[in-house]
Amino acid sequence: MPSANKFEQDLKQTQKEALLTIEQTSELEGLEQIRIKYLGRRGIITSLLKSLKDLPEKERPALGKLSNQIKSQVEQVLIKRIKEQKEQEAVGGKGEGFFDYTLPGRKGWEGRAHPLTQINEKIVKIFYGMGFEVAKGPDVETDYYNFSALNFPLDHPARDMQDTFYLKGDLLLRTHTSPVQVRVFEKRKPPIRIITPGRCYRNEAINARSFCTFLQVEGFYVDTDVTFADLKGVLSAFVWELFGKDVALRFRASFFPFTEPSAEVDISCVICGGKGCSVCKHRGWLEILGAGMIDPEVFKTVGYDPEKYSGYAFGMGVDRIAMLKYQIDDIRLFYEDDLKFLRQF
Ligand code: DAH
Repeated sequence: MPSANKFEQDLKQTQKEALLTIEQTSELEGLEQIRIKYLGRRGIITSLLKSLKDLPEKERPALGKLSNQIKSQVEQVLIKRIKEQKEQEAVGGKGEGFFDYTLPGRKGWEGRAHPLTQINEKIVKIFYGMGFEVAKGPDVETDYYNFSALNFPLDHPARDMQDTFYLKGDLLLRTHTSPVQVRVFEKRKPPIRIITPGRCYRNEAINARSFCTFLQVEGFYVDTDVTFADLKGVLSAFVWELFGKDVALRFRASFFPFTEPSAEVDISCVICGGKGCSVCKHRGWLEILGAGMIDPEVFKTVGYDPEKYSGYAFGMGVDRIAMLKYQIDDIRLFYEDDLKFLRQF
């Protein structure tokens, strides 16, 4: 009867030998030979397992377990080695780091700016080209900057909880970009010519035409002898640059607390050319911005002499302009992050 000791020694010796030769062999052919030599039907490990039955009965369970462990270890190491070798040969037998320059390139994801960002930048760039500087103000404002300093009376409907998101105490989310006028006036003396893009918030029912947040671009110019004609000139140049030279402008008398006189500016419908269609509701005109001469009350509040200075201001909704430019009929599409929509721009 063969001794258990001898069996165990043979087994461990075989394990050592097998693992070493696997490690030293790189050809697939050689690895196959190793498989046959150790694990084949007449292989060394297979034979050792077969001879288990000749061992003394009380030694068998422990040695059987050990034999199986060694057999599966050698199998796994061998399979892993064969797999590695096959992968290396698949990249042309050139080994790790081989790069096949003849393979067609993989197309990367091309990022792009959101359509609102694109239009916003376009608007800012047009005014920048006309000598306007860019300024920014905070999204969280105080009642003073958003309303009081802009001459909104205490009972103005825009101050209602229905329309404005009020935060703690005196704070609110700005409902327009006009408060930046006041912030700039406080810090600087005329002449100032500024464009201020930014996000605004209104507590409105969400539907295809209005959303709880939107972008505005505010512009203003204060100097001695600024007139309504300057305002008309700058806005016409802007509209023609953005929508094309054949678009007509119309200034309609309106009211804003911080401008006097005030106007709403329409452009001839960019879809139908003014003939009348569903976008312009058969009016031929589209409203695109509010504007006016800055009210002397605002100048008094910030310590400018209204006798010496005059200025104009205007504010436009970027979302609305983007909707017109791209003929989008639902503002919510801008905020849904739907890639099928966004990739079109
Ligand atoms: N702030 C106004 C709004 O959000 C838009 C506006 C109108 C801005 C007239 C102006 C202006 O600067 O002169 O409805």
